[in-house]
Amino acid sequence: MERFVVQPASPLSGTVAVQGAKNSALKLMAAALLTTGTTRLYRVPDITDVTIMSEVLTAIGATVAREEDGALAITTPETLIPIAPYELVEKMRASVVVFGPLLARHGFARVSLPGGDDFGHRPIDIHLRAFGELGATFITEHGYVEGRCERLVGKELVFDFPSHTATDNVLMAAVLAKGTTVIENAAREPEVQDLAALLTSMGAKISGAGTSRIEIEGVDALMPVSHVTIPDRVEAATYLGAVGIAGGSIVLNGACASDMDMLLEKLVAMGMEIEREHDSITASASSRLRSVDISTLPYPGVATDYKPLLVTMLSVASGVAIASENVFAGRFGYIDELRRMGADITVEGHHAIVRGKLRLSGAQVRARDIRAGAALVLAGLVADGTTTISGVEHIDRGYERFTEKLRGIGVDIVREV
Ligand code: EPU
Repeated sequence: MERFVVQPASPLSGTVAVQGAKNSALKLMAAALLTTGTTRLYRVPDITDVTIMSEVLTAIGATVAREEDGALAITTPETLIPIAPYELVEKMRASVVVFGPLLARHGFARVSLPGGDDFGHRPIDIHLRAFGELGATFITEHGYVEGRCERLVGKELVFDFPSHTATDNVLMAAVLAKGTTVIENAAREPEVQDLAALLTSMGAKISGAGTSRIEIEGVDALMPVSHVTIPDRVEAATYLGAVGIAGGSIVLNGACASDMDMLLEKLVAMGMEIEREHDSITASASSRLRSVDISTLPYPGVATDYKPLLVTMLSVASGVAIASENVFAGRFGYIDELRRMGADITVEGHHAIVRGKLRLSGAQVRARDIRAGAALVLAGLVADGTTTISGVEHIDRGYERFTEKLRGIGVDIVREV
C-alpha cells in the first residue's frame, strides 16, 4: 500500500501548471461515442479516473491512445458493444455517463448500477427519468439497468435537482434525438459548458449551456473533432488551499479565475491575496487565515469538492466557522481523520462547526475519497511532526503528478511504496 509522507511546511513559492478538468475530461471522452472516427482531446489529465474511463470505452469497442503531442485519441467504430460492466462502474461511478451516448447512438445500453459510496446514497434516478421521458424503457435486474429505445424524441424536461452528471448524460442523449429537448434546472458547471462546446463543434445544436435552461435541437449525426479540456478548478483550489495554510506566494498557470469566483471571494474574506490574470492566478497568504462560514451549493455556489479543503483551512484559521454541506448529505467522512490530527470540529446534521487551532498534530490518517485525501495532505503542512496518508489510490484518481507539483512549490512530501 502506497502512502504519502508529509512534513510541516515553510511558506511556499513557485509555479504550478494546472491540469485539465477531471470532471470535464471524463464526459468529453464519453462524448466520443457519439461519432464514428477519431476524437482528439487535449489537456486530458494523466490520472486513474481517465485510465478507468479509457477501459470503459475500450470495453464498449473504442480504442483509446495517447499520441505524441499529448492528445488522447479515441477512435469509435460503427458498431459498439453497449455495456458498461460492474467491474468498471464499481471503480468509478462517473462511468454511467456512457448511458446517454449509447442510447442515442445504439438504441440500447446495459450499465451496471452504481452503489453508494463515501458520500452516502447516490442514485441515478434523475438520469433514468429523463431518458424515460425521451422515450427509453428500462428493466433493472442482476445489478444492471438496461435501456432501450428507437430514436429518442426531444421533450421539455424539468430536473428536480441540477445534477451535474445527469445534465451531461441527458445532453449527450438529446443531441441525436428527434426534435427539441429542453432541460430546465440544468447544472451550470463550467464543465457542462465545456461538454456543450465539444458537442457543438461536433455539429450539435445547443443553446443555453452554462445557464439553468439548456435547449438542444437534435441532429442526425455528429463528426469527430479536436478539443482542449478546460482547466481543473478543484485541482487549482487545492494548491490555493496549500498556500493559504502554509503561507507564501504561488502562481497557478492555466487556471481560470472566472470559473472559481465564489471560492476566490471566500479566500479573500479569509485573508488571502488573489490576483487574477487572463489564464493564471497569483495567490499569497502573509498571515494566519480568518474563519468565514461556508455553504456548498451547485455552481455558481461554493462547490462541494472544495469543502474538505476549506474545512482543513478553517481548522487552523482564527475564529469559529460553520461549514454546511448542501449537495452530498454524507460528505463528512474526512472530518474524523482531521480530528485525529487534533482539529476541533463538531458535526451537527449537515453542518460542521470548526473551531480554528494554531496548529494540528501529525498522525497516520486515511484518504477515503479524492478531495478528502488532498485535504489531509494540506493538513499535514500545518501539523507538528510527520503526517502519513494512506489510501493514496483515491488521490491518484484525480490529481496528476501531485507530489511532484507540491514539491515544486516547496512542500516536503514523498510517496512511499
Ligand atoms: N442526485 C440524485 N439523483 C441523480 C443524480 C444526483 O439524487 O440522479 C443527487 C446526488 O445524490 C447529490 C446531488 O444530486 O446529492 C448532486 O449530485 P450530482 O449529480 O450533481 O453529482 P455528480 O454529477 O455525481 C459531480 C462530480 C463530483 C462533484 C459533484 C457536485 C463528476 C464525475 N463528479 O458528481 O466530483 O462533487 O458533481 O459538483 O463530474 C470529485 O471530483 O471528487 C467529485 C466527487
